[in-house]
Amino acid sequence: MTRYQSLADKISALIREGVLRPNERIPSVRSARRSYDVSPATVLHAYRLLEDRGEIAARPRSGYYVCARPIQQLPQPETLEPRGSAAVVDVNELVFEVLNSIKDLSKVQLGAAFIDPSFFPLKKLARYLGQAGRRIDRNTLVEYLPPGHARLRAQIARRYLDYGCSVRPEEIIITTGALEALYLSLCAVASPGDVVVVESPAFYAQLQALELMHVKAVEIPTHPREGIVLPALAKALRQRRVKACWLMTNFQNPMGFLMAEEKKKELVNLLSRHDVPLIEDDVYEELYFGKEKPKPAKAFDKRGLVLHCSSVSKYLGPGYRVGWAAAGRFATDVERHKWMMSLATCMPAQAAISDHLIGGALNHYLRGLRQALVQQRDDMLASIARHFPKGTSATRPEGGYFLWVELPRSVDALKLHRLALEQEISIAPGPIFSVRRKFNHCIRLNFGYRWSPRSEEAIRTLGRIVGSLL
Ligand SMILES: Cc1ncc(COP(=O)(O)O)c(C=O)c1O
Repeated sequence: MTRYQSLADKISALIREGVLRPNERIPSVRSARRSYDVSPATVLHAYRLLEDRGEIAARPRSGYYVCARPIQQLPQPETLEPRGSAAVVDVNELVFEVLNSIKDLSKVQLGAAFIDPSFFPLKKLARYLGQAGRRIDRNTLVEYLPPGHARLRAQIARRYLDYGCSVRPEEIIITTGALEALYLSLCAVASPGDVVVVESPAFYAQLQALELMHVKAVEIPTHPREGIVLPALAKALRQRRVKACWLMTNFQNPMGFLMAEEKKKELVNLLSRHDVPLIEDDVYEELYFGKEKPKPAKAFDKRGLVLHCSSVSKYLGPGYRVGWAAAGRFATDVERHKWMMSLATCMPAQAAISDHLIGGALNHYLRGLRQALVQQRDDMLASIARHFPKGTSATRPEGGYFLWVELPRSVDALKLHRLALEQEISIAPGPIFSVRRKFNHCIRLNFGYRWSPRSEEAIRTLGRIVGSLL
């Protein structure tokens, strides 16, 4: 047994014996290093192992804490679907069936794509919106036309710089949410009939965009914890003319993985060698649970080939519809498409979000939100461990708010979705994330809602239905 395993076991024993109690902070790396006479790296390794076992959890800027209820023996998924051939996308019917169920707020929102609305600072934003509405007049109106308000673009560029990613305000185009940024980016790099690479599984709205634009998709195997399999991507790039690659590197929807920084570099280099643009969807970038915000692949792009798309929808308010594309060498094309497709992004919303970004309260708010999400993740994993049958595995994301749950192979996720709806629970079944309707034994669950007895009951009910479908 290595030193770090033995240290992890010692701390596990303290938790089991109640010396370290639920929600209690465990010794800092520095003090554990001194007490156990080991190196800081050994302590960190041991803490990561305990995190993987679900016994402790990191809280941003605060340290490591004992999980409320240990996540016992819930393994992490490993399934990789083999690569598909270039295929016409046809997912709309299925996706809309599921989206309709998400719109019904009386249901337990395990299938939703947003966090609990009670987190959003809506009152504050409404104040800013009112002020902005009064400020904008016919003389200032033009300032908000594409590429968007200069101050807002400068603030966004500044936030990139804060984590070592150099993006010029001139390459940023303000859009109506990240989804428009993604569509405009796709328009800038691909045309109907072209082939675009996607992850397998991938965010369903991405597949819908390809369907709408008549662009074919090649699904590349994607590991639930490590992201897209680069050798498979390299092979696809060698074998056919690929016009673009559309991926998530941070807290991917639906699996939640965070791609390692080295891998992001490799990805950018690989695409650069083939001169293939990368559309990078990074809407969960602010919802990281580790100490630092992870860099996007964009940070390693030297040739302007990455179109980085994001928004404030996932943490400030989806209704404001403020997003952007940092589009590198495609900025002019994206800006022109923005003019053609929707003229401009709502002007008072641009001003209100800009005012909010200036206020120092945003970082404080985000810290609280991240802490709440970590706790909710652990609560949901612990509940799944208690109520789901043997053979279930789930990812343990380090950011965002989605768990990817793999059920025993015999379970039909679409059937589960329909039966769960009868019990007033929405879920997102695996096949909506796949061109070839794979992942029919998988579901995506949202842990962005505040944990309550109703959540526990919903997971218990789901577990019971899963059991009945075995
Ligand atoms: C991965 C991903 N990208 C983009 C979006 C859309 O973001 P927005 O609401 O800013 O358009 C979502 C929302 O569900 C998402 O999950």
